[in-house]
Amino acid sequence: MERTLVMIKPDGVQRNLIGKVISIFEEKGLRVVALKKVKLSKEQAKQFYVVHKERPFFESLTDYMSSGPVVAMVLEGEQAIKRVREIMGATDPKEAQEGTIRKLFAIDKEKNTVHGSDSPESAAKEIPFFFSEYELLSAE
Ligand code: CMP
Repeated sequence: MERTLVMIKPDGVQRNLIGKVISIFEEKGLRVVALKKVKLSKEQAKQFYVVHKERPFFESLTDYMSSGPVVAMVLEGEQAIKRVREIMGATDPKEAQEGTIRKLFAIDKEKNTVHGSDSPESAAKEIPFFFSEYELLSAE
């Protein structure tokens, strides 16, 4: 069993897509083990995306991610990291496959509705960024 950090980005929250996005993950058999709605400060967004700090889109991405509330959650399942990334689709909605969350809902590469940890190393950093151990509750 594996855990991954998923965020519904400000464009998803703003367009009332929280329930729809969570439903898609649940229908694929992933389970919610933690969930919260928060508004990141610019500093928190920079800390969360620190691996991208040298990228040209870093300022814009962190401005955007601190522009409105996000929903952070931990999902659990077999190969959760890989499966969540498949269900989300490619970063750029123009390249995302039919039926993926980003194909269905993303506006562009930045306002792409969802984030999911890209590796076990990322998940190990991103889960504690939002949640303490006592907030992580498996269903069974
Ligand atoms: P995410 O999965 O949250 O991880 C890093 C984010 O950077 C990514 O989704 C995109 O929203 C954003 N991103 C990646 N590449 C670009 C780009 N070329 N222009 C703007 N934003 C980008």
